[in-house]
Parts: sequence; structure tokens; C-alpha cells
Amino acid sequence: MSLAPPERIWWKPVGKQEKLWVTISLVWCIFMFVAMVGWYFVGATNVPTRARRVTPAEFAATTEAFVQQYQTGEENGIPVVSPPPGDIYMLGRQWQWYPILELEQGETYRLHLSSVDIQHGWSLQPLNLNFQILPGSDYILTFTPTTAGEFRLLCNEYCGIGHHLMTGKLVVKE
Ligand code: CUA
Repeated sequence: MSLAPPERIWWKPVGKQEKLWVTISLVWCIFMFVAMVGWYFVGATNVPTRARRVTPAEFAATTEAFVQQYQTGEENGIPVVSPPPGDIYMLGRQWQWYPILELEQGETYRLHLSSVDIQHGWSLQPLNLNFQILPGSDYILTFTPTTAGEFRLLCNEYCGIGHHLMTGKLVVKE
């Protein structure tokens, strides 16, 4: 005597309701996929980015020259820089964002971002703009600040023992 196998049902036609839900799910998946790509072009939340190759030493030298040219102050040993609209520079390293940028509301800047050691996470708060910063790549973000105030920078990629101390600042003046 043997046990009777359970009724085999998987080749029976799929029920109407199941077909309907599979179709809805598929259409939704396609919609989400298209929306994800499309949002880059129509969403107001994306900062246009470009990137180019740069050596860490080269980027550090460019940033240093930029600081020398436009430094207007200092805060906790970090230079405060007030540049004219156009190309501006900030670098990440263990464990600081350098320098502090002081920008003007309504002006357009091309922010060059890079790391001179290891990977860091550039995180602008409370706007919650996040960019991965890697040595060897100069990320160029074109943006126009629309809100005046003090914005804090955090590092949101673990980068060693001082990761939690890696904070910075970006000031937008009216
Ligand atoms: Cu830099 Cu974490």
C-alpha cells in the first residue's frame, strides 16, 4: 500500500484573478522602472553631475590653491572660503571636509568634490543630498542655492576611527 500523491494542479489553467494580479504587478514593475529613470530628467531633486579623472595629489593642490585665493576666515582650524560663482572645490579626507564654503543665494556654482585618501560619503543636511566620494574621481555638481542658511555636512560612509567626527559646513548667504 502506498500513500496517494496529492492532486497535481500546476498545469491547470491559471485563475482569472491570479492572471489579473500578475498583470497588474508586471505593469507596475515596468512603470516603476521607467519612473526611476525618468525622474532623473524631470525630478527637481537631482543635482546634475559630471565626473572626470583626477589624481588625489592633483585635486589636493587645486583645492589648496582655491583656498589660498578666496579664504576669508577660519573656524576650528578649517579655512572659510567665499568664492565667486563658478568652480568651487571641497575635498574629503580622514576626517574632515575641507574647506568651509560660503556661497551666495541665487548664484550658480560648479562644486568639485573628491577624496584624497579613501571613500567618504558627502551628506548635506538637512537637505539630505548624498554623494559617494572616491579618490581618483572629481565629481562636478552644478547647483544654485535657493535657501540661505547653514548646512551641515556629515560623512555617511564608514571611513575609520574618526568617521563620526568627520563633519563640515556649507553656508549660504542671502
Ligand atoms: Cu569619511 Cu566616514
